[in-house]
Amino acid sequence: VTVHLVGAGPGDPQLLTVRAVELLSTCDVVVHDRLVPAPVLALAPRATRIDAGKRRGGDPMAQHQLNDLLVELGRSSSTVVRLKGGDPFVFGRGGEEAEALDAAGVPYEVVPGISSALAAPMAAGIPVTMRHHASAFTVLTGHEDPTGDTDVDWEAHAATGATLVILMGVAHIEGIAKRLVVGGLDPGTPVTAVHWACTDDQRVTRTDLASVGAVELTPPCTIVVGDVAAFDLSPRLDTG
Ligand SMILES: C[S@@+](CC[C@H](N)C(=O)[O-])C[C@H]1O[C@@H](n2cnc3c(N)ncnc32)[C@H](O)[C@@H]1O
Repeated sequence: VTVHLVGAGPGDPQLLTVRAVELLSTCDVVVHDRLVPAPVLALAPRATRIDAGKRRGGDPMAQHQLNDLLVELGRSSSTVVRLKGGDPFVFGRGGEEAEALDAAGVPYEVVPGISSALAAPMAAGIPVTMRHHASAFTVLTGHEDPTGDTDVDWEAHAATGATLVILMGVAHIEGIAKRLVVGGLDPGTPVTAVHWACTDDQRVTRTDLASVGAVELTPPCTIVVGDVAAFDLSPRLDTG
């Protein structure tokens, strides 16, 4: 009996790890979240699927309910996959789930996945580091209201010169952009938003800090801020 906390990558089944595919093809139960697309779930044909993004009544399950569910399943099923978009330990609450399993004495394993923090910039042809442009990149949550209580010191991040990769930032991007400019970034700093990277619904929007607040973006998006966001090194394939 083991609960496997598995990274599903950004959406393209070809970007799963070999270990993830192996576990999906043999598991009894998959508990997945909203961001795991159908082609990835299709790799677990014999498993019972539980959508953790929904509960009766339509609301997502609260984290404590989900932790309890994983403990319960871990005690009653032989192989449980908790499938999370991207990497389980990058803004995925995988840490909380591992802690809950550990506290309950349920064996678990964590299988990393390719985070959207890396895959989404790549899908738009953006190298997050590049000599002479950016020697570091920082992955941040944009979920917190930048005008209210937030742990993210946007002005301080603006001053580092690192590429900023913002997850969950669509709702607050206007306020975030303003704070980055207050922190010293040029209003013309390139900003690229990648919607549903690595899926058939991928859409790339290129703008800058001055204009991003006026651009219509729809979640899920990964938003890249910095000089490198102007690059487009997406594949040039030999089609001849
Ligand atoms: C709760 S976080 C989970 C991140 C995930 N654990 C990871 O490593 O990619 C959800 C956010 O990840 C980003 N995200 C996840 N999948 C994405 C995709 N296919 N394209 C663009 N952004 C994505 C979006 O910012 C979304 O709001």
